[in-house]
Amino acid sequence: MEPSTIVRQAELGDINDIIKINRLCLPENYSFDFFYRILTEFGFACAVGIEDGKVLGYLLSRVERPFSTFIGLNPAKGHVISIAVLPENRRKGLGVKIMKYGIQKLIENNVETIYLEVRVSNIAAVEMYKKLGFYVKREFKHYYRDGESAYVMEWGQKQANEEIEEEKSLL
Ligand SMILES: CC(C)(COP(=O)(O)OP(=O)(O)OC[C@H]1O[C@@H](n2cnc3c(N)ncnc32)[C@H](O)[C@@H]1OP(=O)(O)O)[C@@H](O)C(=O)NCCC(=O)NCCS
Repeated sequence: MEPSTIVRQAELGDINDIIKINRLCLPENYSFDFFYRILTEFGFACAVGIEDGKVLGYLLSRVERPFSTFIGLNPAKGHVISIAVLPENRRKGLGVKIMKYGIQKLIENNVETIYLEVRVSNIAAVEMYKKLGFYVKREFKHYYRDGESAYVMEWGQKQANEEIEEEKSLL
Protein backbone atom coordinates (compact mmCIF):
# COMPACT_ATOMS: atom_id res chain seq x y z
CA MET A 1 0.00 0.00 0.00
CA GLU A 2 1.37 3.43 -0.96
CA PRO A 3 1.99 5.81 1.96
CA SER A 4 -0.45 8.19 0.25
CA THR A 5 -3.33 5.68 0.62
CA ILE A 6 -5.85 6.94 3.15
CA VAL A 7 -8.88 5.36 4.78
CA ARG A 8 -11.79 7.60 5.66
CA GLN A 9 -15.50 7.43 6.35
CA ALA A 10 -17.53 6.62 3.24
CA GLU A 11 -19.74 9.45 2.03
CA LEU A 12 -22.79 9.52 -0.24
CA GLY A 13 -20.53 11.02 -2.92
CA ASP A 14 -18.61 7.71 -2.99
CA ILE A 15 -21.72 5.64 -3.74
CA ASN A 16 -21.11 5.09 -7.47
CA ASP A 17 -17.48 4.04 -6.94
CA ILE A 18 -18.56 1.66 -4.16
CA ILE A 19 -21.25 0.09 -6.35
CA LYS A 20 -18.76 -0.34 -9.23
CA ILE A 21 -16.21 -2.09 -6.99
CA ASN A 22 -18.92 -4.26 -5.43
CA ARG A 23 -20.15 -5.43 -8.87
CA LEU A 24 -16.62 -6.07 -10.08
CA CYS A 25 -15.46 -7.99 -7.02
CA LEU A 26 -18.41 -9.88 -5.56
CA PRO A 27 -21.41 -11.94 -6.70
CA GLU A 28 -23.43 -10.46 -3.81
CA ASN A 29 -24.75 -7.18 -5.25
CA TYR A 30 -27.40 -4.83 -3.90
CA SER A 31 -29.75 -2.16 -5.19
CA PHE A 32 -28.75 1.51 -5.31
CA ASP A 33 -31.35 2.14 -2.59
CA PHE A 34 -29.73 -0.39 -0.28
CA PHE A 35 -26.31 1.27 -0.59
CA TYR A 36 -27.96 4.67 -0.15
CA ARG A 37 -29.76 3.55 3.01
CA ILE A 38 -26.66 2.01 4.59
CA LEU A 39 -24.50 5.05 3.82
CA THR A 40 -27.18 7.41 5.14
CA GLU A 41 -27.95 5.52 8.36
CA PHE A 42 -24.61 3.89 9.14
CA GLY A 43 -22.08 5.97 7.19
CA PHE A 44 -20.04 6.29 10.41
CA ALA A 45 -19.28 2.54 10.19
CA CYS A 46 -18.58 2.50 6.43
CA ALA A 47 -15.18 3.27 4.93
CA VAL A 48 -13.29 3.78 1.69
CA GLY A 49 -9.60 3.43 0.88
CA ILE A 50 -8.39 6.19 -1.44
CA GLU A 51 -5.21 6.86 -3.39
CA ASP A 52 -4.72 9.93 -5.59
CA GLY A 53 -8.45 10.61 -5.38
CA LYS A 54 -9.39 7.10 -6.61
CA VAL A 55 -11.49 4.75 -4.48
CA LEU A 56 -9.63 1.42 -4.28
CA GLY A 57 -11.79 -0.39 -1.76
CA TYR A 58 -14.76 -0.07 0.55
CA LEU A 59 -16.39 -1.47 3.66
CA LEU A 60 -20.11 -1.40 4.45
CA SER A 61 -21.16 -2.25 7.96
CA ARG A 62 -24.03 -1.43 10.27
CA VAL A 63 -25.20 -1.64 13.85
CA GLU A 64 -28.04 -4.09 14.51
CA ARG A 65 -30.14 -3.89 17.66
CA PRO A 66 -32.09 -7.10 18.24
CA PHE A 67 -35.48 -6.51 19.84
CA SER A 68 -35.68 -7.35 23.53
CA THR A 69 -38.10 -6.36 26.27
CA PHE A 70 -35.25 -6.51 28.74
CA ILE A 71 -32.67 -3.74 28.63
CA GLY A 72 -29.15 -5.06 28.14
CA LEU A 73 -30.25 -8.61 27.32
CA ASN A 74 -29.70 -8.30 23.58
CA PRO A 75 -26.84 -5.84 23.10
CA ALA A 76 -26.19 -4.17 19.75
CA LYS A 77 -24.06 -6.11 17.30
CA GLY A 78 -21.94 -4.90 14.40
CA HIS A 79 -22.55 -6.54 11.03
CA VAL A 80 -19.98 -6.43 8.23
CA ILE A 81 -22.20 -6.35 5.14
CA SER A 82 -19.61 -6.13 2.39
CA ILE A 83 -15.92 -5.38 1.83
CA ALA A 84 -13.85 -5.40 -1.34
CA VAL A 85 -10.55 -4.10 -2.67
CA LEU A 86 -9.87 -3.71 -6.42
CA PRO A 87 -7.89 -6.76 -7.70
CA GLU A 88 -4.78 -4.77 -8.66
CA ASN A 89 -4.58 -3.24 -5.18
CA ARG A 90 -4.89 -6.40 -3.12
CA ARG A 91 -2.36 -7.97 -0.75
CA LYS A 92 -0.95 -4.57 0.23
CA GLY A 93 -2.69 -4.26 3.59
CA LEU A 94 -5.66 -2.14 2.50
CA GLY A 95 -8.32 -4.74 3.39
CA VAL A 96 -7.03 -4.95 6.96
CA LYS A 97 -6.73 -1.16 7.22
CA ILE A 98 -10.33 -0.65 6.08
CA MET A 99 -11.59 -3.36 8.44
CA LYS A 100 -9.69 -1.88 11.41
CA TYR A 101 -11.28 1.49 10.70
CA GLY A 102 -14.76 -0.08 10.69
CA ILE A 103 -14.15 -2.14 13.84
CA GLN A 104 -12.98 0.98 15.69
CA LYS A 105 -16.07 2.95 14.62
CA LEU A 106 -18.39 0.12 15.66
CA ILE A 107 -16.69 -0.07 19.07
CA GLU A 108 -17.12 3.70 19.46
CA ASN A 109 -20.84 3.07 18.88
CA ASN A 110 -21.10 0.63 21.80
CA VAL A 111 -20.78 -2.57 19.83
CA GLU A 112 -18.97 -5.41 21.60
CA THR A 113 -19.56 -8.14 19.04
CA ILE A 114 -19.17 -8.01 15.26
CA TYR A 115 -20.27 -10.75 12.88
CA LEU A 116 -20.21 -11.47 9.17
CA GLU A 117 -20.95 -14.15 6.62
CA VAL A 118 -18.31 -15.35 4.17
CA ARG A 119 -18.25 -18.05 1.50
CA VAL A 120 -16.45 -21.14 2.79
CA SER A 121 -14.29 -21.12 -0.38
CA ASN A 122 -13.18 -17.49 0.09
CA ILE A 123 -9.75 -18.24 1.55
CA ALA A 124 -8.44 -14.67 1.13
CA ALA A 125 -11.31 -13.15 3.11
CA VAL A 126 -11.41 -15.90 5.77
CA GLU A 127 -7.65 -15.50 6.35
CA MET A 128 -7.97 -11.72 6.56
CA TYR A 129 -10.80 -11.99 9.11
CA LYS A 130 -8.79 -14.50 11.18
CA LYS A 131 -5.84 -12.12 11.13
CA LEU A 132 -8.16 -9.48 12.59
CA GLY A 133 -9.29 -11.78 15.43
CA PHE A 134 -12.52 -13.18 13.96
CA TYR A 135 -13.24 -16.88 14.51
CA VAL A 136 -15.64 -19.28 12.77
CA LYS A 137 -18.74 -19.47 14.95
CA ARG A 138 -20.78 -21.77 12.75
CA GLU A 139 -21.49 -22.85 9.20
CA PHE A 140 -24.69 -21.94 7.39
CA LYS A 141 -25.35 -24.70 4.84
CA HIS A 142 -26.45 -23.52 1.34
CA TYR A 143 -26.56 -19.89 2.50
CA TYR A 144 -25.84 -18.38 -0.92
CA ARG A 145 -28.11 -18.46 -3.99
CA ASP A 146 -25.75 -20.80 -5.83
CA GLY A 147 -25.91 -23.27 -2.94
CA GLU A 148 -22.50 -22.51 -1.39
CA SER A 149 -22.30 -22.54 2.39
CA ALA A 150 -21.21 -19.60 4.55
CA TYR A 151 -19.13 -19.36 7.66
CA VAL A 152 -20.55 -17.02 10.23
CA MET A 153 -17.48 -15.42 11.77
CA GLU A 154 -17.50 -13.36 14.93
CA TRP A 155 -15.22 -10.88 16.65
CA GLY A 156 -15.69 -10.05 20.32
CA GLN A 157 -14.34 -7.12 22.31
CA LYS A 158 -14.00 -9.31 25.42
CA GLN A 159 -12.15 -11.99 23.51
CA ALA A 160 -9.84 -9.36 21.93
CA ASN A 161 -9.03 -7.95 25.41
CA GLU A 162 -8.31 -11.46 26.70
CA GLU A 163 -5.91 -12.07 23.81
CA ILE A 164 -4.06 -8.81 24.56
CA GLU A 165 -3.75 -9.84 28.24
CA GLU A 166 -2.52 -13.28 27.18
CA GLU A 167 0.12 -11.72 24.90
CA LYS A 168 1.27 -9.44 27.76
CA SER A 169 1.64 -12.40 30.12
CA LEU A 170 3.81 -14.22 27.55
CA LEU A 171 6.26 -11.29 27.38
C1 LIG B 1 -10.73 -10.10 0.99
C2 LIG B 1 -10.08 -8.82 0.47
C3 LIG B 1 -10.96 -7.62 0.82
C4 LIG B 1 -8.70 -8.65 1.14
O1 LIG B 1 -8.18 -7.39 0.77
P1 LIG B 1 -6.60 -7.12 0.73
O2 LIG B 1 -6.40 -5.65 0.61
O3 LIG B 1 -5.97 -7.97 -0.32
O4 LIG B 1 -6.18 -7.64 2.16
P2 LIG B 1 -4.80 -7.39 2.92
O5 LIG B 1 -3.72 -7.02 1.94
O6 LIG B 1 -5.06 -6.45 4.03
O7 LIG B 1 -4.48 -8.85 3.45
C5 LIG B 1 -4.63 -9.18 4.79
C6 LIG B 1 -4.39 -10.65 5.01
O8 LIG B 1 -5.45 -11.42 4.44
C7 LIG B 1 -4.92 -12.69 4.01
N1 LIG B 1 -5.04 -12.76 2.55
C8 LIG B 1 -5.37 -11.78 1.68
N2 LIG B 1 -5.41 -12.27 0.43
C9 LIG B 1 -5.11 -13.57 0.52
C10 LIG B 1 -5.01 -14.62 -0.43
N3 LIG B 1 -5.21 -14.41 -1.74
N4 LIG B 1 -4.70 -15.88 0.01
C11 LIG B 1 -4.49 -16.12 1.32
N5 LIG B 1 -4.56 -15.15 2.28
C12 LIG B 1 -4.87 -13.91 1.87
C13 LIG B 1 -3.47 -12.70 4.40
O9 LIG B 1 -3.38 -13.21 5.72
C14 LIG B 1 -3.13 -11.21 4.38
O10 LIG B 1 -2.03 -10.89 5.15
P3 LIG B 1 -0.54 -11.00 4.47
O11 LIG B 1 -0.61 -10.31 3.14
O12 LIG B 1 0.34 -10.31 5.47
O13 LIG B 1 -0.26 -12.47 4.35
C15 LIG B 1 -9.83 -8.91 -1.08
O14 LIG B 1 -9.20 -10.14 -1.37
C16 LIG B 1 -11.10 -8.80 -1.90
O15 LIG B 1 -11.55 -7.69 -2.21
N6 LIG B 1 -11.69 -9.95 -2.28
C17 LIG B 1 -12.91 -9.95 -3.10
C18 LIG B 1 -14.10 -9.46 -2.31
C19 LIG B 1 -14.35 -10.37 -1.12
O16 LIG B 1 -14.18 -11.57 -1.16
N7 LIG B 1 -14.81 -9.75 -0.02
C20 LIG B 1 -15.13 -10.45 1.22
C21 LIG B 1 -16.53 -10.90 1.19
S1 LIG B 1 -16.99 -11.72 2.71
